[in-house]
Amino acid sequence: MARILITSGPTRQYIDPVRYISNASSGRMGCCLVEAALAAGHEVVLVSGPVDIQYPPEAELFSVLTTEDMLDAATKLFADCDGMIGVAAPCDYKPVEVADHKIRKTGEALELKLIETPDVVASLGANKQSHQWTVGFALETEDARFRAITKLQKKNCDLVVLNGPAAINASDNEVEIIAPDGTVIQSIKGPKATIASQILAIIEKRLISNAN
Ligand code: C5P
Repeated sequence: MARILITSGPTRQYIDPVRYISNASSGRMGCCLVEAALAAGHEVVLVSGPVDIQYPPEAELFSVLTTEDMLDAATKLFADCDGMIGVAAPCDYKPVEVADHKIRKTGEALELKLIETPDVVASLGANKQSHQWTVGFALETEDARFRAITKLQKKNCDLVVLNGPAAINASDNEVEIIAPDGTVIQSIKGPKATIASQILAIIEKRLISNAN
């Protein structure tokens, strides 16, 4: 049995009090991984951005808004966990300046200057203890496998799950699970619930020493 941290869903970066940058991540793949981990008898700690879905109540849920909130919560919670699965789609950019009032229309173009937000999986991967493991996701549109392996190495992950843009807000998915040496351990296509169970089985086999 392991205590697993899962990050899920999108984050938001506000431009003014009512407008924000985000993405269409539904949290469904995260929810399926939570269900698979609970069904296998693991404890789940969940950090999620705003989603419409309901996560299983057995998971300890910490709701966050921004990528920095997600990093803060995940960093604190990871200390008591054996591993983490980063299935969230955190917003990669935030505005340099956030207006404290609603930005009014002027008829002119509005220029936004954005800077990168911190990377949650990379930060946890860089600071993990020898008994801890991290699994990242990579959503790629071109040179997919190469980019996923590069991401795995850069973020110091123990496995990476590669998928494509068709995964966003969909009930089905098509993934490759890739090891640090670049080997494709398994290719899976089908409902997100089936994919989640198989991802979890591989995590148990390779990363959780006392599973089963
Ligand atoms: O956005 P990218 O394709 O690099 O995301 C790959 C992995 O990194 C995913 O596991 C995602 O959860 C994670 N990530 C993160 N923090 C970010 C961006 C991505 O944890 N700011």
